[in-house]
Amino acid sequence: MGNLHTSPSIFVLLCCCVAAIVAYPARSEFLTHENHLSVSYSPQPKDFPNEQLYRAYLVIQRFKGTITSDPKNVTATWTGNDLCGKTSYVGFYCGAPSGRDNKLTVTAVILNGYNLHAPKLQGFLDQLPDLALFHAASNKFDSDIPRLAGLAYSYELGVSKDMPAQAMRWGATVNLGPAGAQLPNCITANLNFTVHIGSGDKKGGSNVPGATDSKALLLNYNSLSGPLPANIGFSKLSYLALANNKLTGPIPSSIEHLQDSLFEMLLLNNQLSGCLPHELGMLTKAAVIDAGMNQFTGPIPSSFACLSSVEQLNLAGNSLYGQVPDALCKLAGPAGRLANLTLSGNYFTSVGPACTELINDGVLDVKDNCIRGLANQRRPAECAAFQSQPKMCPAATTQVTCPATPATVPGERKVRDYSSYVTYATLHE
Ligand SMILES: *[C@@H]1O[C@H](CO)[C@@H](O)[C@H](O)[C@H]1NC(C)=O
Ligand SMILES: *[C@@H]1O[C@H](CO)[C@@H](O)[C@H](O)[C@H]1NC(C)=O
Ligand SMILES: *[C@@H]1O[C@H](CO)[C@@H](O)[C@H](O)[C@H]1NC(C)=O
Repeated sequence: MGNLHTSPSIFVLLCCCVAAIVAYPARSEFLTHENHLSVSYSPQPKDFPNEQLYRAYLVIQRFKGTITSDPKNVTATWTGNDLCGKTSYVGFYCGAPSGRDNKLTVTAVILNGYNLHAPKLQGFLDQLPDLALFHAASNKFDSDIPRLAGLAYSYELGVSKDMPAQAMRWGATVNLGPAGAQLPNCITANLNFTVHIGSGDKKGGSNVPGATDSKALLLNYNSLSGPLPANIGFSKLSYLALANNKLTGPIPSSIEHLQDSLFEMLLLNNQLSGCLPHELGMLTKAAVIDAGMNQFTGPIPSSFACLSSVEQLNLAGNSLYGQVPDALCKLAGPAGRLANLTLSGNYFTSVGPACTELINDGVLDVKDNCIRGLANQRRPAECAAFQSQPKMCPAATTQVTCPATPATVPGERKVRDYSSYVTYATLHE
């Protein structure tokens, strides 16, 4: 494993590490107690190692009461006072952040694939103030994205190859400590993980460039509805995965403030709409931008030519039109790393020479558009009907000023396995 981008399921590994390490401390203290608990016994504050855990217990029990479906019976384990145990409270993990005087508290919630149904996450997520990671794909939480303004801490998670003895299989330490200021309307899981994964040499491997301040919100396959929060750009997110929900409305223009942090954004398969914002092109660190299968319209803004790190750009299945900017296609050459540009199922009407080359290379997919002279296009009547509708989005400009980026390495088409992307990996786990 060389770095974050070549190690297949890095995020899954990270989760395992968080799980394994943070779950470690509390176990033995509780074993003796637990044997004496009866099912009907309702724990009292004194039964918990500290007040935080007692409060978390109350929050979890309240949330449990709102769950309407639990086919895998996980919530049956959410009982008693051992929130940090290995077999109790499945999905909850504890840590002892230094900002909490090293007192044990709930720091991660990982509820993937349990198919839990609950009317909302509000009142749950926002009431676990020490949460560093929330990863809950494939559930059914019928609400909009919770606003976690109440979260007092974001965390720094250092994952390092230089391991103390009790460490994990592949060697990692996780240090949880408060980092940064309170984020307004912070979304969830504020991970600041520094990944050092070496090839096994004692020196401890290399720092993944740019991956020192990462935060993740991973909520694929839920029933989240409503718009993306207008201030999402201030979330400092690095990984945003919201595929297969029911989100509506536009991509907020504040998105450009994720310029220094965002590596991957998965908005695939929602009901998002509006013009593609110019600001999206400012995400110069992003390797994945996937807004496929939504209701976006307008031309591709010329600013997309600034996406010098993008490897996977999927805008398929929208109502985009106009010319595919040739400057965007040049990102698959020396100007960038583009390896897959998927624009099928739109209403584009023309492509320039660089794009034509990409079509021939199999990098650009433009089937089911309105491009004359190309195979597999929409029927002329369908194109004419679309073209006759009024168009509200600003026309693509010819001039664009890209954000200044630190001396970029020469671009190279970057072909890699889908599972090596954090967000795509979480889509298929
Ligand atoms: C769920 O777990 C509880 C406690 O372990 C058990 O009593 C109950 O029968 C289980 N229900 C199902 C549907 O498996
Ligand atoms: C994230 O971690 C790095 C490395 O430990 C640190 O330099 C940086 O300040 C942290 N970022 C935040 C927002 O705390
Ligand atoms: C390119 O991206 C699209 C959309 O994400 C995907 O369906 C397709 O399999 C990808 N193609 C290759 C060759 O990776």
